[in-house]
Amino acid sequence: MSADVRSFFGRPIIIGGGIAGLMTALHLAPEPVLLLSRTLLGTDTSSTWAQGGLAASLGDDDDPTLHLADTIAVGAGLCDKNMASRILHDAPSAIEGLARFGVPFDRALKGSLRLGLEAAHSRRRIVHAHGDGTGREIMRALIAAVRSAPSIVVVEGVEARRLAVKDNAIRGVWASCSIGPVFFGSRRVVLATGGIGGLFLDTTNPLGSCGQGLALAARAGAVLTDLEFIQFHPTALDGPERPMTLISEAVRGEGAALVDETGRPFLQGVQGAELAPRDVLARAVWNHLAKGHRVFLDARERPGLEFARQFPAIASACRGAGINPARDLIPIRPAQHYHMGGVAVDGSGRTSVKGLWACGEVASTGLHGANRLASNSLTEAVVCARWVAESVAGTPARRTRSAITNDYPSPDPKTVRPLLSRALGIVRDGDGLKATAGALLPLAEAKDAASDPAAVGLMITVAALSREESRGAHYRVDFPHRAAVARRFELTLADALAAARELARSPSLEGAK
Ligand code: SIN
Repeated sequence: MSADVRSFFGRPIIIGGGIAGLMTALHLAPEPVLLLSRTLLGTDTSSTWAQGGLAASLGDDDDPTLHLADTIAVGAGLCDKNMASRILHDAPSAIEGLARFGVPFDRALKGSLRLGLEAAHSRRRIVHAHGDGTGREIMRALIAAVRSAPSIVVVEGVEARRLAVKDNAIRGVWASCSIGPVFFGSRRVVLATGGIGGLFLDTTNPLGSCGQGLALAARAGAVLTDLEFIQFHPTALDGPERPMTLISEAVRGEGAALVDETGRPFLQGVQGAELAPRDVLARAVWNHLAKGHRVFLDARERPGLEFARQFPAIASACRGAGINPARDLIPIRPAQHYHMGGVAVDGSGRTSVKGLWACGEVASTGLHGANRLASNSLTEAVVCARWVAESVAGTPARRTRSAITNDYPSPDPKTVRPLLSRALGIVRDGDGLKATAGALLPLAEAKDAASDPAAVGLMITVAALSREESRGAHYRVDFPHRAAVARRFELTLADALAAARELARSPSLEGAK
C-alpha cells in the first residue's frame, strides 16, 4: 500500500471483505469508506463458499411470523425475539435488494424465485443462485458493485491487528501490510471479519477465518456473548482434505438419506430424521460414529441423476474424491460450520465500545439463539448491513490523530486448534473444558502468534464452562439436561482471564458467571 494513509483519516473503516463488509460499504455510499481485506476480495472468505442460500418468507404459503416461529423453535429458548422478528420481516426486501445488485437467483419457469427446503424449516423458503454456488454468485455481484463505487476504497492484503481505543471509544486500527505496520485513524470502525472455523481441525470454513474480529473486539474491551454456541454441520465430506467440503443440507432437502456402512438408516427415534435441527442431527451422527460405525449420505435415488445439475459444486468436489453421488455413497462426518456467538450488538449493530460496530458472523444479534436455523445467516448479514450503515452514517465523523505505528504478530492458530477441537466439539465435559482453560491461559497472556487465537479460545471455553446445562449446540455430558431458565452469558476478555486465573488456583469458576 503506497498512498499516504492519512488521506483516509476520518473515513469509516470496514474490516472484512465478505458479504457483510461489502454490503455495509455499498449501503454507506456515497459516504467515502475504507474497506480493509486480508486477502484479494472474494478469496479465503466463507461468504464465497456458502452453498446454502438465504432464508426468507417469499412463498405464497409463508409469512415472517412462520419463519420466526421456526427460528425460535430451533434456537432452544435463547433467540432475541425482537431482533429475530425485525430481521426476518426485512428478509424478503433484502433479497430483492441483492437481486437489484445483479445476483442471478434461481427462478422457476414463470420467473418467480425458486424456493428450496432445508432442515427445520416448515416451508420452502431458501433462495439459491446457481444451485450450490449461492455465495460465489452473491460475492461476484457485490464485488463488481464495490469495485465500481467511487466512494469505496478497497485495500487488499491488509490485516487488522489491534483497535486503538481511548476512554472506551475507537480511535483507529493498527494493521499490517506488505510494507509493514500501518495506522488508520478513524472513530468509526465496522467489524465484518466472519467466524472461527480456522480454530478447529475439522471445519467447512477457510482456515484463515480464525476469530480475528473477536480478538480485535475482545482486546478493545468489548462485550462478547453466546460464545459457547458453535454449530457443527452434520454432513461434511469425510476425507483427508482440510478444510472439509460441505455437503449442503439442501441435498437432504431434496431427499438424500443418511445410512451407515451396513446400508441401513440409523436415525430411528430422531424427530425430523434427515431434516432435524442441525444440533440434533450432528449429535446423532457423532454418536453413531463414536460407536464405531461409518456414516454416508445416500443420494443415489434422490436427487439421483439430478445431483450434478442441482449441486454442481458439490458434485465436482465429490468427483475430485472419486465419488459419483448418483452411483456411490458419500462418506460424511460433522465439522465446525458456524459460530452463533460473537460480539454483542444492539439493533443497529453497535457494540459496547463507542464507534465500533459488528456485522455478519462476528456479531451476535440474538437471531440464532443456541442453534442457528439453516440459511438464516446470509440473510442476517444482508439485512443487518443496512442497519449498521445507517447507524455509521448517522454518527458524525470527528477529527482523528495519527498514532505511533505498532507491530503486532500475525495470528497463527495451529497450537490452539487441537485444544479447541478436543474440548469444544459436539460433546463437551467440565474436566476437559477446565484442562483446556488451563492450557490456553498462558498462551493468551503471551504476546506471540498464538495469543489472539488462544484469547478467543479461552473466552469460548470459559463461556462453555459457565453454562452448566445442555442447550442447542452446547451439549455437556456432565450436565445433559436443559435448565428451566434460559439465560444468555456476556463476557469480556478481562472476565475470562480472571476466571481462568481463578480456576488455575481452585476448581471453582464463579468469576465467569
Ligand atoms: C448448507 O447448505 O447446508 C449450509 C447452509 C447454512 O449453513 O445455512
